[in-house]
Amino acid sequence: MAVDGKHALITGSSRGIGRGIALKLAETGVKVAIHYYQNERAANDTLTQVRKRGSDGFVVQADVTRPEDITEMFRKVQGEFGKLDIFVSNARPDLPGFYRRPLDITLEQWHMALDSQARAFLLGAQESARIIPDGGRILAITYSPGGRTGSWQPWVAMGAAKAAMDSLVRYFAVALALRGITVNGISPGGIFGPPNVVEGGVLRVLPQEIQEAIRVWHEGGWTPMGRLGTPEDVGNAVMLLCMDEASFITGQILHVDGGASIMDTVLPLDIQRG
Ligand SMILES: NC(=O)c1ccc[n+]([C@@H]2O[C@H](COP(=O)([O-])OP(=O)(O)OC[C@H]3O[C@@H](n4cnc5c(N)ncnc54)[C@H](OP(=O)(O)O)[C@@H]3O)[C@@H](O)[C@H]2O)c1
Repeated sequence: MAVDGKHALITGSSRGIGRGIALKLAETGVKVAIHYYQNERAANDTLTQVRKRGSDGFVVQADVTRPEDITEMFRKVQGEFGKLDIFVSNARPDLPGFYRRPLDITLEQWHMALDSQARAFLLGAQESARIIPDGGRILAITYSPGGRTGSWQPWVAMGAAKAAMDSLVRYFAVALALRGITVNGISPGGIFGPPNVVEGGVLRVLPQEIQEAIRVWHEGGWTPMGRLGTPEDVGNAVMLLCMDEASFITGQILHVDGGASIMDTVLPLDIQRG
């Protein structure tokens, strides 16, 4: 699949990483359905930036925790574009919706996490399979460390949701393999876009001192490459997986984290770096 001239739907592309993915694909000539939940102005701003890069698209609203909204979103995409080549499941609710420790989390918060990630990806992948031609691409933006570890306590629901999403990637990869549709996950590390809530990603909503502590931790060695990632880094990875040359890569979770995921938690950083 040559990327140029394709059509993509990216959930949560009004802001943060989703916007980074939309702009990267737009640079390579992909038309983009820019999905948002509440922030129409930010979505229109993404569209303006897509057009400045010589591509085009439209904005579409949906609450991905509502199955009927997901169906309607795909119906609109089919109506506007006539087809779809790339689906990226990236949207994630804001922290107050799900961020709570295991002993305190409510069922409402649990469902918010699971419905917005695992169920939304399940339904999005099913809808995509209906309209994406053979050779297309389905991608999930996950956070695999949250599904594997248990230390970031208020992440319990999102960790479980992302673990389910990672699993679905593998099942859909097999289900769609004979059609040449690849299904992969991308697991970013810590992502710092510009220091504002619209472009920066979720870490930019944290108090300044916590942002600083995260930056120091990664630049100090936890990320071997010595920096946090950017929405553009994630956009680059999506673009790579959408290229023709990636047609035999499926069912994989690609860590886009400057090497953070290959660090060893047992040894102090100074010893690891020798
Ligand atoms: N940021 C990181 O460091 C990081 C690291 C690893 C993985 N990730 C993953 O990357 C993805 C994007 O993260 P981000 O930090 O860039 O996100 P973000 O800046 O917080 O943006 C969230 C996006 O999701 C949309 N959204 C929120 N609730 C929704 C709902 N109920 N239905 C539909 N859409 C909804 C928002 O739309 P509105 O603008 O309309 O509200 C927005 O476009 C997430 O899946 C996240 O888990 C992020």
